[in-house]
Amino acid sequence: MTEESSARPSPAETRGSIRAAVGGRALVVFATRHGSTGEVAEAVADELRSVFADVQVADARTGPSPAGYDAVVLGGPMIMGWHKDARRYVKRHRDQLSSVPFALFVTAASLTEDGLDAVGGVPVAKDPWLVKKPRNTDRLSRKERYALPRHYVGDILAACAPATPRSVALFAGSLDLTAMNILERLFVLLVIGATPGDGRHFDFVRSWAGETAGELSAG
Ligand SMILES: Cc1cc2nc3c(=O)[nH]c(=O)nc-3n(C[C@H](O)[C@H](O)[C@H](O)COP(=O)(O)O)c2cc1C
Repeated sequence: MTEESSARPSPAETRGSIRAAVGGRALVVFATRHGSTGEVAEAVADELRSVFADVQVADARTGPSPAGYDAVVLGGPMIMGWHKDARRYVKRHRDQLSSVPFALFVTAASLTEDGLDAVGGVPVAKDPWLVKKPRNTDRLSRKERYALPRHYVGDILAACAPATPRSVALFAGSLDLTAMNILERLFVLLVIGATPGDGRHFDFVRSWAGETAGELSAG
């Protein structure tokens, strides 16, 4: 697990800026292919605990409905599109998500900088270690176009509609080549041009989760 210093507020500073626990129940649901997004979900849940009295973490395949929770955070990796279990969870529970404040996060290995901080009116937080400036902003390559925030997030927002998340975060994920078959390796190395290894930055994850906890608890 990689921890790096950041100009962003530390988790302790973030917590300090939010009022003390206000009670209520929150649910963090995650999808994963190789396990690393589950650890990101646990870090998000830890931050939510500074605001919500009861925070549960659940796998998207078996997780409970959002009904009865005061806030929901749903996360999953990009696996040639947002992980199918995350998409299925959203589709299954779209109606309940419309009446619960919720936020989304995505783990990924490639993201093109577009200079924008929202997609479809929804604020998007981008892990600064994940985004890469395009070589030529006037003419993006196929890889760069594929990894645009509006491509990744636009699809996810369409799956959620009419429910709308309060915010979406794009986090650097972890790429374990030894866990992949040959086709998967070819895809991540050649099609998206990803760099293998654990690129997660938990300071950034916690900073976003702390801010998001405050926003979701505002009702
Ligand atoms: C088969 C496969 C496809 C992937 N597709 C994408 C992709 O389209 N875009 C991207 O940015 N990252 C992609 N990734 C990288 C994953 O999103 C990243 O490694 C993530 O952290 C994996 O999370 P997990 O360990 O929870 O499965 C892909 C990884 C694999 C194995």
